[in-house]
Amino acid sequence: MHPSYYRYHIFFCTNKRSGGGSCCQQYQAEEMRDYLKKRTKQLDIIGPGKVRVNIAGCMDRCKQGPVLVIYPEAIWYTWKTKADIDEILNTHLLGQQIVTRLQIL
Ligand code: FES
Repeated sequence: MHPSYYRYHIFFCTNKRSGGGSCCQQYQAEEMRDYLKKRTKQLDIIGPGKVRVNIAGCMDRCKQGPVLVIYPEAIWYTWKTKADIDEILNTHLLGQQIVTRLQIL
């Protein structure tokens, strides 16, 4: 097993800010998080030594959002569409390569 409990532990911001401030939920983050979780389940890559997708509150990168971060490597991504989520899934979680076009530093 990988030294970290999950090979990839994803924190997916779904924070909603009332009053019109920028937040990840403006991009249907909850729906996208559910989509990623569903896909990892379908692919049978969830669990210890594999992948875990957690909901996260605001991680204070709202202006670069919507955001998610993947540990233990601490790779941050922004995304806008379902295709972006698919690319992170296929390239990073399955292919173990960083999606540089979506990465934020
Ligand atoms: S609302 Fe998602 S990082 Fe702040």
